[in-house]
Amino acid sequence: MQNQSHDIQSIDNDGNLGKPLAPWTYKNPELFELEYEAMFLMRWQFVGHVSDVQGIGDYLTSDIGRDNVIVLRGKDKKLRAFLNVCRHRASRILEGSGTCRGVIRCPYHGWTYQFDGSLMAVPQQENFPGLDRSEYGLHDVQLEIFHGMIYVRVKGDGPSVAEQFADTEHFFEKYGVADYERLEEPTTQIWEVNWKVAWDNYLENYHIPIGHPGLNRLLKETGEWEDLTSGVNYGVFFLKDKPSSVEVERLYQEQFHHAEKRLPDELKGKWVQFGFSPNLGIDLYPEMMDFFQLIPLSPDETMIKAWFYGHKNPTPEEIELRRLNLLINDPVNDEDRELCIRVQRGLKSHGYRPGPLSQQETAIFNFHELLREQIPVITEGRAPRRGKVAERNETLKAHS
Ligand code: FES
Ligand SMILES: [Fe+2]
Repeated sequence: MQNQSHDIQSIDNDGNLGKPLAPWTYKNPELFELEYEAMFLMRWQFVGHVSDVQGIGDYLTSDIGRDNVIVLRGKDKKLRAFLNVCRHRASRILEGSGTCRGVIRCPYHGWTYQFDGSLMAVPQQENFPGLDRSEYGLHDVQLEIFHGMIYVRVKGDGPSVAEQFADTEHFFEKYGVADYERLEEPTTQIWEVNWKVAWDNYLENYHIPIGHPGLNRLLKETGEWEDLTSGVNYGVFFLKDKPSSVEVERLYQEQFHHAEKRLPDELKGKWVQFGFSPNLGIDLYPEMMDFFQLIPLSPDETMIKAWFYGHKNPTPEEIELRRLNLLINDPVNDEDRELCIRVQRGLKSHGYRPGPLSQQETAIFNFHELLREQIPVITEGRAPRRGKVAERNETLKAHS
């Protein structure tokens, strides 16, 4: 996504290029806890699309990490988000997706909540003398809809999704993303890597020529890209005209124009890729869109979730293009997984010191800057003593 002709404004190390984070930061359980709060609970997380929860009582649930969030459409047709934890004794309430009939009922002892999250009824309430139901509604989670995409934020404040995407909103408008619907259930994989290894990898395209021969046969950069300080970056790629030597790629090239009729001229012949730090990739293709989401499980385990959405009522040609797209991009995912696992192994090995970042890796530098700003202990060259990471972080914060 990066292009060397652009100035690097954010890298300012007396003329040196930036260095990535120290290796300890990719395997430390105490730091992982700090990251989880600052980067996942306190930042917007994609959880689905309005078309997934169209009717009254329709809900979806989504993992953020160890937390899980319910998004439910109320009787007033409004979408609301709640933590998926019963206020009685913490049972998870809903699983997967579906429709609640009239109320949200906990499967453990049957506390029931209204669609607005308020506690409506408690079985055998006489055994809870003095219980004030108004104090035990489900915990609200912030929710924002941006062009049909639903984002939630568990804690904290800061810019809205719309503010962060402000300079790129026209893409979502022109592709008509608000009217998309889900093409299939999301798929998940576990990668044996720290979540930052996977995100670093997503943020740079320097590895494409070597790591992704298929993409390299198909794509060339247009030079249109931007790394916005808002936490969003994007890049636009041309599809190469030269027919690929690989059949599925060639078929895709030949049939690509069938899906482009829906798009304005300036977007024809292109793929558009977004990164929404710290963990969401979005690809806009003429025939569909996909999301690539990282869900942190442990310091060296990350769930990779892939979601696919597209136009309602696709033509047979568009359906065929979607099939070809998956045949092209599935191997890319496998390649990335392999590349990331190799990095994780190297980060754990003795003697590695961070090497320089290139100008094509500016987005990584900026992502690491965001981490340094939010979690200052991450700037330490060596891990603080066991049990002291959070304390050291607080000390550094107090002095910043
Ligand atoms: S934990 Fe939900 S009703 Fe008891
Ligand atoms: Fe890749």
